[in-house]
Amino acid sequence: MSDGKKPGGERKSSGRGQRDLRVRVKSAKGRRLSSTLWLERQLNDPYVARAKREGYRGRAAFKILELDDKYRFLVPGARVVDLGCAPGGWCQVAVGRVNALGEKSGKKVGRVLGVDLQEIDPIAGAELHQLDFLSEGADDQVKAWLGGRADVVMSDMAAASSGHKGTDHLRIVALIEAALDFAFDVLEPGGTFVAKVLAGGAESEMQAMLKRNFRKVANVKPPASRSDSSEKFVVAQGFRGRDDAAEPEAEDDI
Ligand SMILES: C[S@@+](CC[C@H](N)C(=O)[O-])C[C@H]1O[C@@H](n2cnc3c(N)ncnc32)[C@H](O)[C@@H]1O
Repeated sequence: MSDGKKPGGERKSSGRGQRDLRVRVKSAKGRRLSSTLWLERQLNDPYVARAKREGYRGRAAFKILELDDKYRFLVPGARVVDLGCAPGGWCQVAVGRVNALGEKSGKKVGRVLGVDLQEIDPIAGAELHQLDFLSEGADDQVKAWLGGRADVVMSDMAAASSGHKGTDHLRIVALIEAALDFAFDVLEPGGTFVAKVLAGGAESEMQAMLKRNFRKVANVKPPASRSDSSEKFVVAQGFRGRDDAAEPEAEDDI
């Protein structure tokens, strides 16, 4: 990391006689301990500071930047669907990389379409809709908005936390399976599916489905993903297309 801080905002202790520069947040009346710890982590997180400096809506932007640096799916001219896009960091990254504003002369101009349950503040170059992607006909609606299929379907969605790890894991597996099903309907053959998953036991069926339907499947934890979180990302490239979803299985790149 260029600023010498460890991801997650920890700073190495600088030894005796030197000041610990980590910001400490005192507990306050009416504030729960979990909120105090969250605030302290935010204030000490270099990605949070960098997001503010670089104008991104959240630190999540760096996860898709790092994934794209490695797998190069957000190319100029690509049509991207971002599921669960609020507040919009991933869309901001995609707009730049696919040249949705046509700022890179001589390069193809892409499209970015984001949907979320919540309202999303406008982002220049992105088309944003308040939509539950699980609702009936959402895939057809998205194809109609796009005027065709997408080259990339990406999802950073998380189900609301129940506070129970096992339940949360099952919920996110269900969500990603639904996102994958959505991608099967919306992706162009050759397209890419990127999604957040939680490491855990209930994902083998999903991994098998990915391998049957894409030529290459990678499971990655980008540096911007906090080391104490069980999230990771799948990047599945080379969609075989609805009719051709069979043998041989994808190469493993875990
Ligand atoms: C972690 S946030 C996404 C952050 C985003 N990638 C960014 O960079 O700003 C997850 C989002 O998924 C959305 N979400 C969860 N379930 C959804 C659904 N069924 N349909 C649409 N959005 C959903 C939530 O409303 C939430 O805004």
